[in-house]
Amino acid sequence: MILQTEYQERREQFMAKIGNGTAILRSAPLAVMHNDVEYNFRQESDFFYLTGFNEPEAVAVLAPHHSEHRFVLFVQPKEREKEVWTGYRTGVEAAKEKFGADEAYPITELNEKLPQYLEKADRIYFHLGRDRDFNAVILDHWQQLMATYSKRGTGPMAIESTHPILHAMRLVKSPTELAMMRQAVAISVDAHNYAREFAKPGRYEYEVQAELEHIFRQRGALGPAYPSIVASGANSCILHYVENNRQMQEGDLLLIDAGCSYGYYNADITRTFPLSGKFTPEQKIIYDIVLKAQLAAIAQVQPGNPYNLFHEAAVRVLVEGLMDLGLLAGDIEEIIKEEKYKPFYMHRTGHWLGLDVHDAGFYKHGENWQVLQPGHVVTVEPGLYIGSDVQPLEGQPAIDDRWRGIGIRIEDDVLLTVEGHEVLTAGVPK
Ligand code: GLY
Ligand code: MN
Ligand code: MN
Repeated sequence: MILQTEYQERREQFMAKIGNGTAILRSAPLAVMHNDVEYNFRQESDFFYLTGFNEPEAVAVLAPHHSEHRFVLFVQPKEREKEVWTGYRTGVEAAKEKFGADEAYPITELNEKLPQYLEKADRIYFHLGRDRDFNAVILDHWQQLMATYSKRGTGPMAIESTHPILHAMRLVKSPTELAMMRQAVAISVDAHNYAREFAKPGRYEYEVQAELEHIFRQRGALGPAYPSIVASGANSCILHYVENNRQMQEGDLLLIDAGCSYGYYNADITRTFPLSGKFTPEQKIIYDIVLKAQLAAIAQVQPGNPYNLFHEAAVRVLVEGLMDLGLLAGDIEEIIKEEKYKPFYMHRTGHWLGLDVHDAGFYKHGENWQVLQPGHVVTVEPGLYIGSDVQPLEGQPAIDDRWRGIGIRIEDDVLLTVEGHEVLTAGVPK
C-alpha cells in the first residue's frame, strides 16, 4: 500500500522540476463500453503515480507557483443516482481530505477554473494524448492566454510534455513500489509453479490460463497484467498468441507468458517447458541456447551499463547458437549488424517494468542509451522462434524440418541494485 505521504513527496519532487510551469494531468476516461456493457476501468499511470486517485473523468493540476493552490483536483462529484450504476465516487470534498488537494472542483468546472492556474505560469506541462478532444481543450486555453498575454504580461509561452521529468522519476522505483512489485512477482511465481504441475497432454491451453488467473485473483491481484499467453506446440512461435484454445499434445513444449497486476504494479514472466517433463533432443538444444543467452544478458544488467548492452549480449549468444546449428551462416558481425537473425528472433530482449508492463521511461537520449541505475526494473526475455513456415533470408541456409515448430522464450524481471542486480522472478525454475 502506497501512502498519501509518498504521493505528496512525488508531487513535491515533480513540482521542484517544473519551476514556474503548470502541469495538467488527466485520468483515464470512463471505463471502455462495448454495447452498453462497461469493462474494467484502468487508471492512467502518470496520473495515478502523482495522485493515487483511482477514478475516471478527473484532472490534476500542479501549479507550484500558485500562492494557495499548488495541487488541484477536478473530480466527478458525488451523485447518488449515478453511483448506483457506476460505483462509488470520492467526490469534491473528500478529494481534498483524502488525496491532499489544496482545492478541488467538479470536473464540469474545468474550463471555468483552469485559467487562474495557467495565467501566471511560464509554460504548460501537458502530454498530448490520444483523446483529440481533450487535447483541443488544453490548446484552446493556451491560445486564449496567448491572445491576452500582451495586456497581462504573463502567461504560458510554450507547451512541454510531462514525460521527460515524470518518466525519469517513474524509472527509479521507491521501496514501497518495489514492495508492490515483489508482491506481484510472488503471486505470479506461485501461479507459474502451479501451472507447470497442472499442464498435461490432453488438457486445453485455456485450462492452464484459468488456473493461472484463478491464483492471481485469489491472492488479491487485480488480474492478469496483460493477456496471458499459454502457447503449446507451434503456437509458441506466435509472439502474442492469446487464443489459448488448443488441446495440448504429448511431446509439446508449453510457453507460458503470464504475470499479474497487483495494485497496478506488474510482473511479467515467461517460462517454456516440455509438457511430458522431458525435452526432445531438438527442443533441448534450442532451449539451452536461449537459456545461455538469457544468463549472458542478465549478467549485463549492472548499474552503469548502457541499457542496450544486455540486448546485445543476448543477440550474440543466440546468433552463435544458430550458426552452430547451421541455421545462420556467414560473418557473425555482419549477421548481427544486419539483423539477419530476425526470422528467428524478432523482438528486443526486454523493457522497463513497473506501473505499466511496458513501463514509462526513455531508452535513449539522442544517440546515448539510458544508463542503468539502482531502482530500475527491466525484463530480460530472449527467445528463439522457428515457425513452421519461416523462410530463410536470401543467402542463408535452408531450415531443416527437425527445428520447425519450436518456440522458446525465457523471461525474468530484474531489479538493478547498488551491487548489481536481483532476479526477482528466480522462484520459477528454468
Ligand atoms: N508479455 C508482454 C511482454 O513480455 O512484453
Ligand atoms: Mn512477457
Ligand atoms: Mn515482457
